[in-house]
Amino acid sequence: MKIHRLFALVLCLFAGIVLAQQSRSFTDAARGTTPIPETTKPPVLGNAVNDDVRRARNYAMQPPTIPHRVDGYQIDKNFNKCLDCHARAKIEVSQAIPVSITHYMDRDGHTLPQVSTRRYFCLQCHVPQDAVRPIVNNSFQDVDTVLQQVQAAGKTPKK
Ligand code: HEC
Ligand code: HEC
Repeated sequence: MKIHRLFALVLCLFAGIVLAQQSRSFTDAARGTTPIPETTKPPVLGNAVNDDVRRARNYAMQPPTIPHRVDGYQIDKNFNKCLDCHARAKIEVSQAIPVSITHYMDRDGHTLPQVSTRRYFCLQCHVPQDAVRPIVNNSFQDVDTVLQQVQAAGKTPKK
């Protein structure tokens, strides 16, 4: 009997803690104070950067960001607007950078005559940019910066 009562007490205490935690308001950089079960109202899209200047890549195999607007570009089973300029055969007219050889490879590393289906939806990996303040801070440094810091500190880079 006593054990039962103790068990019930512990259970109540536990439920109390869970309830208290749920009702505590929280703030998240991306969601604001919107509780997790609710959907936030996303901010309206701004004007994507359209300066046509290719940007440095931060690391090997980073998909380059898109330096031009892509609003309304059709990508579906019938037509791929991106390949209308970026396909190997189109670059003479468009002067765009042709998609690299990796875009023609299937997952087994075989090179196909056409862009691989896994590289068909370009915006899965390539994104235009917007001049906004990042909501989550990022302290990433590329390898050149790290090497410069090591050299400035008079140390030799670790092998
Ligand atoms: C009208 C032709 C045209 C279309 C359509 C087009 N692009 Fe481009 N793209 C270019 C040109 C030209 C450049 C070179 C930089 C510039 O002039 O903007 C470029 C640059 C890029 C780059 C930067 C490459 C690098 O090495 O920095 C990416 C990524 C890119 N485009 C992706 C896309 C994607 C994804 C789409 C479709 C949603 C698309 N482009 C549609 C012409 C086009
Ligand atoms: C699964 C991710 C992914 C998809 C989907 C994808 N790309 Fe890429 N793309 C990359 C990566 C990673 C690189 C950089 C390394 C490389 O060249 O493979 C790249 C590089 C590029 C480059 C620069 C090539 C160069 O030689 O500098 C262009 C242009 C480009 N992609 C356009 C496109 C277009 C257009 C599409 C759609 C038809 C597309 N990509 C689909 C990941 C992707």
